[in-house]
Amino acid sequence: MNASNLDELKRQAAIKSVDFVRDGMVVGLGTGSTAKHVIIELGERVKQGLKIKGVPTSWETAVLAHKHDVELIETEDEWSIDVTIDGADQVDPQFNLIKGGGGALLKEKVVAAAARQLIIVVDHTKCVPRLGKTFPLPIEVVPFGWGSTARQIEELGYTVTLRKRDGHIYKTEAGHYILDMQIERIDNPAELDVQLNAVPGVVETGLFVGRTDVLIVGAPGGVEVKYAEPRRG
Ligand code: A5P
Repeated sequence: MNASNLDELKRQAAIKSVDFVRDGMVVGLGTGSTAKHVIIELGERVKQGLKIKGVPTSWETAVLAHKHDVELIETEDEWSIDVTIDGADQVDPQFNLIKGGGGALLKEKVVAAAARQLIIVVDHTKCVPRLGKTFPLPIEVVPFGWGSTARQIEELGYTVTLRKRDGHIYKTEAGHYILDMQIERIDNPAELDVQLNAVPGVVETGLFVGRTDVLIVGAPGGVEVKYAEPRRG
């Protein structure tokens, strides 16, 4: 399946996800090529009269929302988010995720955690039996002593690579670096998340464990909507 076919599957799934958005809602807006389709569709529905406010997870998303007339909440202090809709890089059968391929994992995790409902939209190729192997796990770290942080992660038995773009160190919106961690298989995502977050210098990992409420998958046979067990707490 080529990239434009996959993009069409993402688009179809994204359109379906917007059916969950109701008048008056505050919507967390994800980042990436799938979230882009969500924002465009939200913009269409705003033109038809839908009234919502968005909380963006990146500048890129904020610019796109503005372009498509999706009003954004002005405060960055605290929100009451009804639903967050975002993409993912990998999804396992329990709906645990690897995110952060686009580098926005920190804001994405904050906005996902602040929402009453998290909807994840993917094309079918992102669904894997187990996280890892085909996609490295992004880990956001502070630049101060990043090499020592990387060494401590490697001492745990993993291999990491400092993310670069065009020959320069990639910096997140918060000014952090990203270490992409190669891992053959993630058997226990919750345990790994705790282990990595315990390393000084780690800001956040791209593991989203037990957060997804609804998974919407664009597949050649159509769009599938799958529900997780109700979230605890
Ligand atoms: C951004 O940092 C990521 O978490 C994205 O949500 C993820 O990489 C999915 O991206 P696409 O929708 O572009 O595949």
